[in-house]
Amino acid sequence: MIKRVAIADLRVGMFIHDLDCGWLDHPFVSNQLYVKDERAIRKLISTGLDHVYIDTERGHDVETAVEASVVDAALQLELETVAEANQATVSPVTSENERLRAKTLLYDATLQMRRIMEAVRSGRPLELHSLEPLIERMIQSAFSNPHAITSIARLKLRDEYTFMHSVSVAALLVTFARELDLPYSEIQGLVLGGLLHDIGKALVPLTVLNKPAALTDLEFAQMKQHVDLGSGLLCQLPGLDPVAIKVMQLHHERVDGSGYPLGLKQDQIDRIGRMAAIVDVYDALTSVRVYKEAWLPNKATKKLLEWSDSHFDRALVLHFARCIGVYPVGSVVALESGMLAIVVDQGNDLLRPLVRVVYNRKQRHFDRMRDIALEDSPTERIVGAVDPAVYGIDIERFL
Ligand SMILES: [Fe+2]
Repeated sequence: MIKRVAIADLRVGMFIHDLDCGWLDHPFVSNQLYVKDERAIRKLISTGLDHVYIDTERGHDVETAVEASVVDAALQLELETVAEANQATVSPVTSENERLRAKTLLYDATLQMRRIMEAVRSGRPLELHSLEPLIERMIQSAFSNPHAITSIARLKLRDEYTFMHSVSVAALLVTFARELDLPYSEIQGLVLGGLLHDIGKALVPLTVLNKPAALTDLEFAQMKQHVDLGSGLLCQLPGLDPVAIKVMQLHHERVDGSGYPLGLKQDQIDRIGRMAAIVDVYDALTSVRVYKEAWLPNKATKKLLEWSDSHFDRALVLHFARCIGVYPVGSVVALESGMLAIVVDQGNDLLRPLVRVVYNRKQRHFDRMRDIALEDSPTERIVGAVDPAVYGIDIERFL
């Protein structure tokens, strides 16, 4: 049985099923390990973990610990309660109509980010004027329909990760800011900050940045330097928006003080930084990396909520979950009838979005494509999110 245990209850002889820090470039070879001595426990504590998942069939048990399935059900319920309590923000354009524009925009933005980071890597000065029209286009797209840009931004190529992640974080930040009703001037700074938040990685050795295995302690320390390196680059630019600088400097801080580089806690971290941390981790979790497959958005949102006991601002995580949806556009969901469908737009009701039925799970074949507005359907409802790869569903083909 898989159970969640506090790090303080971890003992020699337990088997860790999941370190439960999917976002972290942690110094362990695998997410699973047998706790063979006290040294291993001390190392786990030093990474800032506050709990892990153990497999009681492969090691000692903690009788009072809660089963993983119970934790998951409670988190799902919390997300659904928040979604149900509030109407979604209505978008003036459908996600499908905004999709083409968002796709071109993300392509242009990724190209720009690659140029900027390559320029920094080869020692040329930072030149940011080219980003201004892009920022305006990103804000426009997210205000027309935020789900178009955020769903496309999730589809990354493994080797383009660093550039595409920056663009994706910027897109998610503007969507988040729209949900929080932040002023336009602040949104501009957030988007710029999203694009530049990992600029310091251009000065981290490529062998460390793209290493397809666990980082050594030294490499981990080199990776963490990207924040200070980024500060060094941005602070040379006179008049750069302070909101953008905050995104860059604070996106690895954690509310329990376990983050870096400053180890700030709670309100010591400006709200901009607490927002950036959530978005940065959500995008990393839902992306393919050199060492892991992409997580389903629904799983990533639940994990953010679980980790908000220690790492993230819980109220902000719930706002974020609301703006991307319990089942974001591009998610594949199982319906009660046994059909699988792709979420194509959020509509007014986050738990009953517009879906496109594509696959018959019982008979295991693709089915006649049809759209259902679940909000108006008396018979169909979502029973959970599923992994499209398991059924060979190429989402792009159907959107
Ligand atoms: Fe970073």
